Amino acid sequence: MSIDRLFPDLTEDNRAELDRFREALKTVWPLKGKHREQLKYAIRDMSRGLTSERGDRRPDYMGDAKFLSPYLYYFLPWNLYRMSRLFTGLSFDVPDGARVADLGSGPLTAIIALWLSRPHLRGRALDFTCVDRSPKAMQVGRELFHAMAGKDAPWRIHTVKGAFTEHLREKADLVLAANAFNELDWSGRVARPQAEKLAAHLAACSTETGRVLVVETGVRLTGRIIAELRGRLLAGGFKPIAPCPHAEPCPMPATGQGAPWCHFNLSVKGAPEWLQLLSREARLEKAGVSLNFLYASRQGAKEWDGVRVISESFKVGEGRGQYACSQKGLTLVEFGAGGPGMEPGRLLVPEWPEAPRRDQKSGAVILPWKGAR
Ligand SMILES: C[S@@+](CC[C@H](N)C(=O)[O-])C[C@H]1O[C@@H](n2cnc3c(N)ncnc32)[C@H](O)[C@@H]1O
Repeated sequence: MSIDRLFPDLTEDNRAELDRFREALKTVWPLKGKHREQLKYAIRDMSRGLTSERGDRRPDYMGDAKFLSPYLYYFLPWNLYRMSRLFTGLSFDVPDGARVADLGSGPLTAIIALWLSRPHLRGRALDFTCVDRSPKAMQVGRELFHAMAGKDAPWRIHTVKGAFTEHLREKADLVLAANAFNELDWSGRVARPQAEKLAAHLAACSTETGRVLVVETGVRLTGRIIAELRGRLLAGGFKPIAPCPHAEPCPMPATGQGAPWCHFNLSVKGAPEWLQLLSREARLEKAGVSLNFLYASRQGAKEWDGVRVISESFKVGEGRGQYACSQKGLTLVEFGAGGPGMEPGRLLVPEWPEAPRRDQKSGAVILPWKGAR
C-alpha cells in the first residue's frame, strides 16, 4: 500500500495563482519591444550559463538586467512550480508568529512559492529574513510578492545584503535555501569543508525546534551537495524529515559514476500554459522538471521504516523496477511487467521477505512489490 504522494498535482488555486503571476511580472518588470523579442535568446544563454559557464559570471550577476529578465520570466516561475509541488507534498506549515530565513533568496522565489501553494498561511503573521548578495533581485522579488499578495499581507519581509553565511540577528523556525548552494565551488577537496561550514550555519540559524529545508536543482552535482550537507547536519544532531525514511548514511550520494543518486523527476502537469509557450520559444521545451532536497530538524520525522521511491521505472529482467531508499540502504522495488510504475516520491509500507535478495548490478536490496502502484 502506498501512503503518500510527495509531489501531488497542483491545486486549482495554485494553478490560478501561477497563471496570475505573469500579470505580476508584466506590472513589476515589463519587457518592451527589443527586450521582449530577445527574451528567448537571453533565456537560452542563461540556461547554458547556469549549467556550464558559471565561472565567468560576476558575483552580483542577479543584479544585472541582462540576467534578471530571463531569470524573472523563466527560471523563477519554473522554480515556483517545482516548489509549489514540494511544499504541498510536504504539507508545509509554519505557525503564526514564526520566523523564516531564506538564504540566497534571489527574487524571493521560495517566499512567493509559499504564498502561492500554502493558502492557509496567507493570514498568518510571519516574519521573513531574506539574504542574498544581490539587493536588486530581492527588491524586485519584494515587489512581485506584493503584486501577488497585496499591500496588506501580514508577512513582514526584511532583506539583508550578504553572503549565505551572514550572521542573522535572530534564530529562525524555518531556514530555507533554494537553488542557491550550487553557486558555490564544490570541486574536489573543497566539498567537505564547504558542507561543514554551511551545515554549521544552518544549525546556528535555526531554533531548537527549527526546521531546515534545502532545495536543489536535481542534477548530479546537487545530489552530492545534498548528501554532503545531510552528512554534516546529521553529525551535528539533526535528523531527516524527508525524503529520507531513515537516519543512516545516504545510500545514493552521487559519488559513484553510473550509480543511482537521490533526485526526483516530476511531470510538468498543471504548469502554466504561458510558461510552457515561453519555454518552447526558447527551445527549452520541458517534458519534466527535476529537484532534490533535504528537509530536517533536530527532532526528525515521527516514524521511519518506509521505503521512498526515488527513480522512475526501468526494465529489470522480465519485469520492471524502481530504485528506492530505505533503512536497509539502496533498495530496488521490483514488480511484474506492464504498467507505468509508481510516481517518484511515494512512500511505501514494505513487507520485507525474510531474506531479501540483492540486485547484482547495483547491489540494491530487492523489495518485491505486490501492492497497488
Ligand atoms: C539561482 S539563484 C536562486 C534564487 C532563488 N532562491 C530561487 O530559488 O529562485 C541563486 C542566488 O544565490 C545568490 N548567491 C550566490 N552566491 C551567493 C553567496 N555566496 N552569498 C549570498 N548569495 C549568493 C545569487 O545572487 C542568486 O540570487
